[in-house]
Amino acid sequence: MCGIVGYIGNKEAYPVLINGLKRLEYRGYDSAGIAIINGDTRIYKCKGKVSDLETFVKNKDVSGSIGMGHTRWATHGEPNNVNAHPHKSQYGHFVVIHNGIIENYSRLKTKLEKRGYTFKSQTDTEILANLIEYIYLKGKVSGEIAVRLALTKVIGTYGLIVSCKEEQNQLIAARNGSPLVVGIGKKEYYIASDATPIVEYTNSVIYLNDNDVAIIKKDELTIKTIHNDKQIPKIQTLDLDIGEIEKGGFDHFMLKEIFEQPKAILDTFRGRMSANKTDIYLGGLYNVLPKLVEAKRIIIIGCGTSWHAGLVGEYLIEEYAKIPVEVEYASEFRYRKPIIYKDDIIIAISQSGETADTLAAIKLAQESGAIVLGICNVVGSSIPRLTDAGVYTHAGPEIGVASTKAFTSQVTILTMMAMLLGKKRNVLSQEEYKNLIAELTKTPDKIALILKHCENIKNIAAKYKDATNFLYLGRGYFFPVALEGALKLKEISYIHAEGYPAAEMKHGPIALIDEKMPVVVIATKDKSYEKIVSNIQEIKARKGVVIAVVTEGDTVIKNLADHVIEIPDSDQALAPLLTVVPLQLLSYYIAVMRGCNVDQPRNLAKSVTVE
Ligand code: M6R
Repeated sequence: MCGIVGYIGNKEAYPVLINGLKRLEYRGYDSAGIAIINGDTRIYKCKGKVSDLETFVKNKDVSGSIGMGHTRWATHGEPNNVNAHPHKSQYGHFVVIHNGIIENYSRLKTKLEKRGYTFKSQTDTEILANLIEYIYLKGKVSGEIAVRLALTKVIGTYGLIVSCKEEQNQLIAARNGSPLVVGIGKKEYYIASDATPIVEYTNSVIYLNDNDVAIIKKDELTIKTIHNDKQIPKIQTLDLDIGEIEKGGFDHFMLKEIFEQPKAILDTFRGRMSANKTDIYLGGLYNVLPKLVEAKRIIIIGCGTSWHAGLVGEYLIEEYAKIPVEVEYASEFRYRKPIIYKDDIIIAISQSGETADTLAAIKLAQESGAIVLGICNVVGSSIPRLTDAGVYTHAGPEIGVASTKAFTSQVTILTMMAMLLGKKRNVLSQEEYKNLIAELTKTPDKIALILKHCENIKNIAAKYKDATNFLYLGRGYFFPVALEGALKLKEISYIHAEGYPAAEMKHGPIALIDEKMPVVVIATKDKSYEKIVSNIQEIKARKGVVIAVVTEGDTVIKNLADHVIEIPDSDQALAPLLTVVPLQLLSYYIAVMRGCNVDQPRNLAKSVTVE
C-alpha cells in the first residue's frame, strides 16, 4: 500500500526520496509525489509510476536537504494528479503525506467547511492537513502541538510526515496503525514506511509505536506520544542487506524469490534444529510451549496466501499433534462474533506483519484473553510486536507482490510446530519424529531439483498463456496448494482461476470442463492417489486439458494427462512445500508471456494496511 519516505540532513534530499520511492514501489501504488522544503516548499506529484514523476520533475528545481516522498494507493478518491500526495493546507502552512485511512474524515470535513475551508482533492489527507492548520492558526500553537492535537481528533490509522512552513528545520512524523521507521545517520535522519529505502544509508533504526510522534531535526530526535508523554527511543540494528532487496540478475523479484526458496527454507530451519537434526527448537515459543502443548483448540488466522499456509497448518497439526484446528480469514473473523475461549491458542500468520485485517483479528482475540502467536516474516513489524510470542520465518525480504517464499517458509514453520507438538503430546514416537525431521531437511534440495527443470513448466505456460480460465484441483494437503496455485495465477496474469478440492469437482465445477479449460491437478503418490487418478479420468472424459503435478517416475498419470510436471518423492505432509513450486513458476511464466507487470500487478498492494 502507500509508501512514505522522508529525509532531513546535509545532503540533497531528492536522490534519497526518489530512490526511496523506487524501493517502495513493490508495496503497490498508483501515483507518486515529493515535497522539497528549502525556503519555500516545492511539491511535485503525478498519477503513474515513480519514473513518471522523475520525468515530470526533470529541469525543475529539486534542490534542498529536507523533503518527503509518497507513493499513493488510492482509498479516498481516484488515482489522479490532484489526489496524489503531498497535500498542502489551505493557507500553505502545512504539507502532509499520509498512509492509512481517516475514518471520521467526513465529520472533520464538514466542521472545517463551516470554518471556511474548501478542498481541492477527494482525499482524507487534505482534511488532516487543514485540521492541523486550523488548530495551528486558531490556537497560535507550534506546529508540533498542532499535529498532536489534530491527531487526538482523528479516528483511523495513519503513518505520516508533516512539515510546517514556519518551522522548516524539522519534520514531524507520527504513527497509528501504519508503520514508520526512523533511520539514524550522522547529523541526518531518514523516515520510511519500511526499512527498504533506509538500508543503503544506515542500519540503526527506531520503529515508532502507535501514538508516537517524532519531532525530527537534522541533529536531534525527540519522540513523544500524541498526549505529550516523552518516550525513550529503542534503537535497533537492521538485519537487512541491500543485495536482498535487489533483483540479483533475475528479470523479476518474483522469479528471484521463487528461486530463493531452498535458501529461505534453510534459513527458516537455521538454529532451530539440534546439530544431529533429531530435535526442533522454536525459541520464540519457549514461554508459551506448555500452554500450546495442552491446547484444546488452535485457531489460525491470516489473509490470502498466509491463510492458505494456515490451511496446510491445520492438516499438519491435526495429523501430527491431534489438536483441533480452525482456520479463519482474519477479515471474516474480526467482523463476526467468534467464540474464543481463554485457553484457545490463536496463530496469526502474515508475511508483512502489517495486514490490517489480521491485526484487528489479533486485537479481538486478545480481548478474549486467548494467547496469540505470530508467524511473520518482517522483523519488527506490527504483528510480532503485538502478539504474545511467535516465530519469524526468516525468508528474507519479499518484494514481489505475489507471495512465494513467504508461503513455503510459513509452511515450514507450521510443519516444525506440528512435529514438535506431536512429539511433546506423544502422538509421534521419537523414531517418527526423527524421521520426519530428516525428511523435512531434504526439502531444500528437492525444491532445487524442481527449479532445475523449469524449462518444462515454461513450455507448458507457452501453450496455455491465452486461456481465459484455469481450474486447480488437489486433495487433502494439496487442496490448499490448489487454492494457492489459483491465487498466484489470478493475481499476476489476470486469468480467472479457481482452486477446488478434487472430490468436490463433481458437485459443480465439472460443468465448466471442456477442451478450453486447463485443469492443474496435484496428483502425487499418496493415500488418495487412486482417487485423484479417477478425477483425472473424469476430466479427460469431458475433453479437459490436464496438467498434472506428479511424483517422479509416475507412468500411470503420464499416460492420461496432457502434461506432467515431476517432483521428487516425499512424505505427503511435506509435499505442499514441493508441489506449490511448479504452480508458482507456471503463473510466473504465463504472466510474463502475457506481458503483465509481474512484480506490481494492477490494483494490488504488497501489504494491505487498510480494511
Ligand atoms: O503480509 P500478509 O501475509 O499478511 O499478506 C496477506 C495477503 O495480503 C497476501 O498473502 C496476498 O494474498 C498476496 N498478494 C498473495 O500472493
